[in-house]
Amino acid sequence: MKNPTQPSQPWVIANWKMNPATQAEVTALTSQLATHSTALPDCNVVISPSFLHLQVVKQTIATTSPIHLAAQNLCAENADKGAFTGEVSANQLVDMGVNFVLVGHSERRQYYSETDTILRKKIQNAFTHGLSVVFCIGETHEQYLAKQTFSVIEQQLELLADFAQQIPLPNTLDTPPKLLIAYEPVWAIGTGLTPSLDEIDTTHNFISEWLSNTQIYAPILYGGSVNANNAHDIASLLLVNGALVGGASLNATSFYQIIHAFAQK
Ligand code: PGA
Repeated sequence: MKNPTQPSQPWVIANWKMNPATQAEVTALTSQLATHSTALPDCNVVISPSFLHLQVVKQTIATTSPIHLAAQNLCAENADKGAFTGEVSANQLVDMGVNFVLVGHSERRQYYSETDTILRKKIQNAFTHGLSVVFCIGETHEQYLAKQTFSVIEQQLELLADFAQQIPLPNTLDTPPKLLIAYEPVWAIGTGLTPSLDEIDTTHNFISEWLSNTQIYAPILYGGSVNANNAHDIASLLLVNGALVGGASLNATSFYQIIHAFAQK
């Protein structure tokens, strides 16, 4: 069954991760993005730079175009402020003009041992301050080979059931969804490998059904080695409502090619 409230406009999100390395490169990339960003097609675009670079992206792009800003992380322990060395709160992000935050990315699960307990707190803190959450899920290669994709994903989705009451249907097309799901097979991230279109379709269908059954509205994005060459094919899948793009978002030309591929959905 189709998620009953499939959004009409796709979402393309750039996840810059811990890139670029220098301010000069950030400025160059941001300026290139700015030259394209005044003529955005029918597509919601979100950029997720490091905390350090949120301000420059905001000043260079987000003020002159409909591009949204996302953070890659937020503090789990406190939504506002306090003695949490090295952390950034949901409140501080919203105050900076950030609208979205990534939660549950496989790199955070893997390198920073983020458990469901931590992810739950992060989602609650984000919602408390009105940040929309891009919740990332996906199976490892081992799990993929063992045909455990659905069971792994179901387990990862489970904690969202606690938030079902807090995730309303968007009132208008101008209201960003409170939750977006990014299905990112861990083995596809940064490897140049992707599942087949059939596999992406089947998994998105599974996620869509789970969301419908749990009465949660959320666009479902695909992530993992999306690039300018495969974006058209991936975008052509009915249940793919956008993309979370890592490596290819660090090049303004390829990122805009991806945006255009999804805008034609
Ligand atoms: P990739 O990363 O596009 O470089 O595979 C995607 C992600 O990790 O979000």
